[in-house]
Amino acid sequence: MIKQTTFLKILVLVGIVQLLISCNSTEPVIKHVSVQGKSVDAIVELMTLEEKVGQMTQAERRYLIDEKDIKDLHLGSLLSGGGSTPETNTPSSWADMLDRFQGLAAESRLGIPLMYGIDAVHGHNNVVGATIFPHNVALGATGNPDLVQEIAHITAKEVRATGINWTFDPCVANSRDERWGRAYESYGEDPTLIAALGSAQVAGYQGASLNSQDAIAACTKHYIGDGAPTWSTGENGKIDRGDARISEAELRALHLPPYQAAIEAGTATIMASYNSWNGTKLHGHKYLMTDLLKGELGFQGFIISDWAGIDEIPGDYKSDIIQSINAGVDMVMVPGDTSKGGSTYREFISKLIQAVNEGSIEMSRIDDAVTRILNVKENMGLLDAPYSNDRALLPTVGSPEHRAVARRAVRESIVMLKNENTLPLSKDLSTVVVAGRGADNVGMQCGGWTISWQGGMGDITSGTTILDGVQASVSPSTQVIHSADGSQASSADAVIVVVGEAPYAEMHGDDEDLALSQEDMAVLNTVIETGKPMVVVLLSGRPMIVTELLKDTDAFLAAWWLGTEGNGIADVIFGDYAPTGKLSVTWPTDMSQIPINVGDDDYSPLFPVGYGLSY
Ligand code: GLC
Repeated sequence: MIKQTTFLKILVLVGIVQLLISCNSTEPVIKHVSVQGKSVDAIVELMTLEEKVGQMTQAERRYLIDEKDIKDLHLGSLLSGGGSTPETNTPSSWADMLDRFQGLAAESRLGIPLMYGIDAVHGHNNVVGATIFPHNVALGATGNPDLVQEIAHITAKEVRATGINWTFDPCVANSRDERWGRAYESYGEDPTLIAALGSAQVAGYQGASLNSQDAIAACTKHYIGDGAPTWSTGENGKIDRGDARISEAELRALHLPPYQAAIEAGTATIMASYNSWNGTKLHGHKYLMTDLLKGELGFQGFIISDWAGIDEIPGDYKSDIIQSINAGVDMVMVPGDTSKGGSTYREFISKLIQAVNEGSIEMSRIDDAVTRILNVKENMGLLDAPYSNDRALLPTVGSPEHRAVARRAVRESIVMLKNENTLPLSKDLSTVVVAGRGADNVGMQCGGWTISWQGGMGDITSGTTILDGVQASVSPSTQVIHSADGSQASSADAVIVVVGEAPYAEMHGDDEDLALSQEDMAVLNTVIETGKPMVVVLLSGRPMIVTELLKDTDAFLAAWWLGTEGNGIADVIFGDYAPTGKLSVTWPTDMSQIPINVGDDDYSPLFPVGYGLSY
């Protein structure tokens, strides 16, 4: 039996040892300073250079070397690139991940919450089960700013439900060349239409007040001239990220109006573009980013770089940093994917601090960038109180109400290019055959930027296919046959053939041949041989070369990449909705016409901007 006094002595000894250990621990004892209630200027005054540079740094969640860097390096932002999802891709696991990241940010000395950015560009498209809407080229065909604003508001709700507070959208590219792999991210060729829809999207994302529970910061992109490059000046001699060889007058007339409108709508952020303008990379272009955008147009938010966008400026990484920051970039997206030789956010931070200490970048430029970033965070309500996500919006993700709006958007975006007394089909036909690789394919309906960066074919997320829509539309007595190769077409009263493009994104979609695939043509020819009434539905990111095919087609619907609600097409095919879509892009007769845009001298396309038939 140990005497009580000895036991007490041991307790005291243990306490002294623990005290000694805590005094010698390597973990610095952080003296927290609350920013709540302080003005942005007062906060900037408080900040060390390391904290300022940390706020200017955006890292990618996959490439965090240590999650504690969020706290220790005072990171201002994180992102999920396309397809960068938590282990289990469910809305609640996203919310868990965001709570963890924000918790680490709260442990830093100032505890400034993160802005977390994601490409929610046609719904919360990285998240399985989210509502996916038509891409911009389809929204352009609706010409409906109110619908676009409603879509953006729904997207904001589904994004906030997962704890995320920033989308890299709207893309207000004016795509001048259908061969560009990002043509579908453009609302069309008319800068006035682009300005109307882009600013409506900003209003929908940001709402009446950016600190509302269902608002997210917008990021209008890619400034400026992303849709203007000349073929062969881009990646691998194609067009993406190429050189926009146009006059300043054309740049201002065709590509600037959407930014003027977005700034008037209060866009919180703007993303710099990968392309060059007459040989100079936009990420290093002081005249365009500082003098024009921040000076002449009075943009008060902040400019973020694109994914390792500063790395593409000629020169070494440190000179890239100096040139881009001095040109007007305020936050740098430093994914840190070293597998492709990219620099890490740790390297970025140390080189930026070096550049400031050696005088290559003035502290006034740093303070301007940090002030812009903190002004946005203040408007978002991030400086008022510690981050919290009450998850009240989680049940709205992919809800029937949201999907009903997406279905309405599908109906309004379809452009009927031909109809020889065929549509609308009767709901009482004896037999309808649905053929083609797109007939029962949610992935093909959604296109790029869906669940993964490039998107993918097949059942990649929940939704209704065109086949589902046909089956739900016809009368009980009608037989619907799914014949992917069209081999059962001869038994049909009418055949619906769904063809088009497999999903792609960015440079992976650059293509100098916009003909239908051999696989699609095989199915179409099989059906044409039967002589049955044939309705073609084209699922694509852009116009394709269909001039010859049209001669053998009774009806033709351009349905674009329409998202998860394929039943919206059946509403048009069976007459529940008369098509109203009008082309916002020129439809070329053949490849030799491309690039072709409304306003060209010898403008003689297969279908002009504004074309679209109805019942
Ligand atoms: C991409 C795109 C840009 C996107 C960013 C983050 O490369 O150019 O549109 O927002 O990286 O994913």
